[in-house]
Amino acid sequence: MHREPFDLIEGWPDNGGEGLRPGDLDRLLALLESIQPGSWSMDQLRNERSRSDGLGVWTCRGKVAVAALLGRIIVDELHILELVTAIADRRQGLAKRLLARAFMLAGRRGCSRALLELRASNHVAQRLYESVGFVVVGARPRYYGDGEAALLMTRPFDEVERGTPDGESIL
Ligand SMILES: CC(C)(COP(=O)(O)OP(=O)(O)OC[C@H]1O[C@@H](n2cnc3c(N)ncnc32)[C@H](O)[C@@H]1OP(=O)(O)O)[C@@H](O)C(=O)NCCC(=O)NCCS
Repeated sequence: MHREPFDLIEGWPDNGGEGLRPGDLDRLLALLESIQPGSWSMDQLRNERSRSDGLGVWTCRGKVAVAALLGRIIVDELHILELVTAIADRRQGLAKRLLARAFMLAGRRGCSRALLELRASNHVAQRLYESVGFVVVGARPRYYGDGEAALLMTRPFDEVERGTPDGESIL
């Protein structure tokens, strides 16, 4: 099947994006709803978008968002809150690209590592995160409402992600 390239990565305006286009939040919500119904509301997305500690990047094919990453910067850590790729667009490196972009953006904002929690049963996501250098550093028993444990994973940023030694970004 012919697929358009995914050259464009959008972001919250503070993340070096050019600002939200009309309908961007609707596109993001539609993607999130298609993967994890009820996990995000429009009000929550608006809140993330306007927070000074918010980090959001996503990529679209035409007018459809196909992958998205939402995070927050807490002191010097990027906390990844959400990462999804549309089912039809998986295994094309989209999540990896969004992670790479998020690491650069967070590094520019003074972060030295990324951190996340994921369901212990989510082996696919664990493999993805391991493939970009995350390691499991702990577990939180009964973290989720249904009693499942969370794994805690972290990954230090490298020199390039943190910017050049004189503080100048390579982006
Ligand atoms: C996890 C998820 C975001 C991965 O998105 P993706 O765009 O398909 O990931 P990528 O194409 O960038 O994959 C990068 C690497 O991750 C690993 N990976 C991804 N999907 C995998 C799978 N189904 N099985 C095994 N490894 C997998 C591989 O190492 C892959 O590299 P490769 O394709 O060269 O082998 C996607 O499956 C998803 O949206 N899942 C549901 C939501 C979720 O669980 N989010 C994470 C919770 S925090």
